[in-house]
Parts: sequence; structure tokens; C-alpha cells
Amino acid sequence: MGRIALKDIRKSFGGVEVIHGIDLDVEEGELVVFVGPSGCGKSTLLRLIAGLDRPTSGAIEIDGKDVTRVNAADRGLAMVFQSYALYPHMTVRQNLSFGLENTRMAKTEITARIDDAGRMLEIGELMERRPTQLSGGQRQRVAIGRAIVREPSAFLLDEPLSNLDAELRVTMRAELAQLHDRLKTTMIYVTHDQVEAMTLADRIVVLRKGVIEQVDTPLGLYNTPANLFVAGFIGAPNMNFFETTAQGGHAELPGGLTVKAPGDGKITVGIRPQHLRLADDGEEALEGIVTLVEALGAETVVHARAVDGTGMVTVLSGQPGLHIGEPVRVALDHAQIHLFDADGQRIIPASG
Ligand SMILES: Nc1ncnc2c1ncn2[C@@H]1O[C@H](COP(=O)(O)OP(=O)(O)O)[C@@H](O)[C@H]1O
Ligand SMILES: [Mg+2]
Repeated sequence: MGRIALKDIRKSFGGVEVIHGIDLDVEEGELVVFVGPSGCGKSTLLRLIAGLDRPTSGAIEIDGKDVTRVNAADRGLAMVFQSYALYPHMTVRQNLSFGLENTRMAKTEITARIDDAGRMLEIGELMERRPTQLSGGQRQRVAIGRAIVREPSAFLLDEPLSNLDAELRVTMRAELAQLHDRLKTTMIYVTHDQVEAMTLADRIVVLRKGVIEQVDTPLGLYNTPANLFVAGFIGAPNMNFFETTAQGGHAELPGGLTVKAPGDGKITVGIRPQHLRLADDGEEALEGIVTLVEALGAETVVHARAVDGTGMVTVLSGQPGLHIGEPVRVALDHAQIHLFDADGQRIIPASG
């Protein structure tokens, strides 16, 4: 239960297409995260799956059954929104039972489900309160509880934690991961926050301008980004990019450092800030001038301008004692570089 398939889904609003042919298979019990910049179509896609909106073309299947024309209420899914969407004049208990009471479910079953959800989400003590008497985190728990009591075949969550402060967001993120582990119900989770995506997902779908850029596990995306967009989007601080030219099996970086690069022509060399370190004396290095130092204690984020003007960021462990305006020389781990062709697509090295 909870297998979801999208087949060449397209969606236009007023003649403008915003979803450009999405194919995706979500497996039973999987936690899939849709991530991408604001406006890339995450909410639109989720609403199409929920049945709150109809695709312009293409098909949606749940457990092998075509539900493209099936009403939202009959898809067996539950959606949780950023805005919580609780009924303000109802108590927590009434918010949870609303929707179940319209079905033919027995009162004892409804009570049992609400008690279960109350225990699971630790909101049992709050049942007689109204939403205005709850904190933001408690409201979001109730919104999730309302989805849980319906025992859906899948949960659809649209930026459910975005209204919470940073600390609470981290706590709730962990709770959601534990909840998924306990329920083992399919979840599709939408966020613009790549850290949230990395920490929660079994698989991440990276969206940009209504198309899928890449689908992979969090570490799959981190280790082998398919293109420049994914490389720049996943990982913090952002990957460093150096535009250069491959020639005779090599490419040169600012400062004269060379890396292995197959083919001939324009390429981009990507290096994560964590894969750069201070160079030893006499070692081949990227050279630049320090423009900003962020000392975090355990590590130091050093921003620099390379000799050709390219900005670069290095995450150094400890407290290297660098200052703005000083020259800096950094060496790289050659096994950890990423190469992209002139179209921004990952280059697979010919060998090794
Ligand atoms: N009801 C609508 N009418 C017209 N345009 C819309 C509507 N809903 C979304 N869009 C447009 O579709 C694109 C994707 O929006 P959305 O799915 O909300 O993005 P995201 O959730 O990734 O921020 C945006 O360009 C947005 O303006
Ligand atoms: Mg959205």
C-alpha cells in the first residue's frame, strides 16, 4: 500500500506550463523528499498527487490503479500543510475527529485512533484545548495527528516545518523521521531546505523549473551530482566552481594547479569547501586572497578570491588563524573533484 506512480505529468495555469512532464515511482513505505528553489513546482506536484488539482495531461497511479480522475477524498491520502489549517473554533480532539465522523466509523474506533495519535505525538494532555492555546510546534503536531488518525496509504507534507523557529524545526524533523520509521507509511515531503531533505529522505527528487534534475539517495546526490544545478544545490557551503579548459587530459585552476580532465574544451571543475585544505610549502595550490573568515570554533569557513577573480570557500578544521586580506594557498583532494561539461552535465572520467 502507498505505491505512487507519476506518468508524464504536465500542468499549465492559464496556458503557461509549470510542470513539464514528470515521471516518478515512489515505492511502498518510502520517504521521498521533493526539494528545489521556491517556484519550481513542488506544491503544484503535491497538490496533483493529492487530487486537489488535476494535471493538464499524464496519469497518476496509486497501488497500480489510475486515480487521475479520482477525487481527493477518495484517494486514501492525507495532506499536511505549512499553515496547519486547524479549525480555530474546535478543540484538539474535535480537530482530530473531524472528517472521521463523516465516515461510518464506530465511535470507539475513532476514540482509539485519537488516543493512539495523542500518545504517539505527545499531545494527549492537550485534547480539550483550542489551537490558539497551543504553541506552533503543538499545532503542527495536531495537524500531523489529524493526518495519522485517517490511517492513509501515504502522507503528503508541504513544508510542514517552515513556520517553526530553527531549533524546533530540527527537533520536529527528528520526530518526523522517527514517526516514519514507526508507521512505515509512504511519505512525500516537500521542502526548499536541502539540509531537511538530506536528513529526512530515503530518496530525494531535485526539481527545477518544473522538471526533475535528479533522483537519488541523499549521499548519491552528494557524491555524484548529475549536473551543475544539483552540485550547487546540495551541500553547504555551496560547491566551488572553477570554469576552465580541458586540454591534453588536464585542466588548470587559478594559481596553476592542474587536475586530470578528459576531453578538450570548456569545463567546470567543482570542489566542495570541505575537500580543500591549506597547502604545504611548495605544494601545488589554488591561490587567492582571504575576503572573509567565519570562525565557528571547531571549524573555520574561509572565503577567498582566487587570482583569476573566482570566489572560493574553504572549510578548514580548527582555528587556522587566517585574516582578511592575507594570501591563502589551498590544496585539494584529487579524488574528490567533480567535472562538468559545457552544458553543465557531469563528466564521467574515462577510467578510474
Ligand atoms: N493556481 C495557480 N495559478 C497560476 N500559477 C500558479 C498557480 N499555482 C502555482 N502557480 C505557478 O506555478 C509555479 C510553481 O509554483 P509552486 O508549485 O507553488 O512552487 P513551489 O511550491 O516549488 O514554491 C510558479 O511559477 C507559480 O507561480
Ligand atoms: Mg510550495
